[in-house]
Amino acid sequence: MHGEEDTSQSDKRTLWFVTQNAHKYQEARRTLDPFGIRIRKLSIPKTEIQSVDLGDIAKFAAEEAAEKYNRTVLVEDSGLFVNALNGFPGPYSSYVHATIGVQGLVRLMNQKLRREAYFQASLAIASPRGASQEFSGRAYGTISHKPAGKQGFGFDPIFIPKGTRKTFAQGGSLFKDRYSHRAIAFRKLALWYVKTKV
Ligand code: IMP
Repeated sequence: MHGEEDTSQSDKRTLWFVTQNAHKYQEARRTLDPFGIRIRKLSIPKTEIQSVDLGDIAKFAAEEAAEKYNRTVLVEDSGLFVNALNGFPGPYSSYVHATIGVQGLVRLMNQKLRREAYFQASLAIASPRGASQEFSGRAYGTISHKPAGKQGFGFDPIFIPKGTRKTFAQGGSLFKDRYSHRAIAFRKLALWYVKTKV
């Protein structure tokens, strides 16, 4: 089997998280662990349809992967939406991070007084049979004037969650899990999953 962290598919109740991002995987794991939900990483490229709706992007990829790999899968699509930039980079966050990067975004925010932004994570769970479900989470905050901190990934060094004074990258994993869009979305999934599948 291609791209899997563990090749045995013994446990039918394992949820396979389709991602190539080790940080996203660890964050999901930390959130689902206390609910007794076991995930594994399915490290295959996910199909990304062109849409401004993160939920639609996650749903399409999840349904396709569930069908193709004949198992229950999770797909998460996320992005950073900056108010002063009319929601940019939003669904293009991954591309923008890979091209202009954190410094490029800070430059775009040069002179901007209003620095509000939010992260959104949209999560879809799909099985080969049955309808898919979607969950989402948002973390509200501001864009810092310069990058700070070394932990995490992506735009973590410039995002300060509301009510705090440090970036996600300065805060570490407990801090991230307390405020993050991903933790919110995965907790919603966990509550639904525990209720419907146990
Ligand atoms: P995708 O969900 O794989 O399309 O990637 C989303 C992109 O948004 C990532 O490559 C990051 O640049 C950014 N992003 C999403 N979530 C986070 C986060 O928790 N921290 C920092 N950047 C994030």
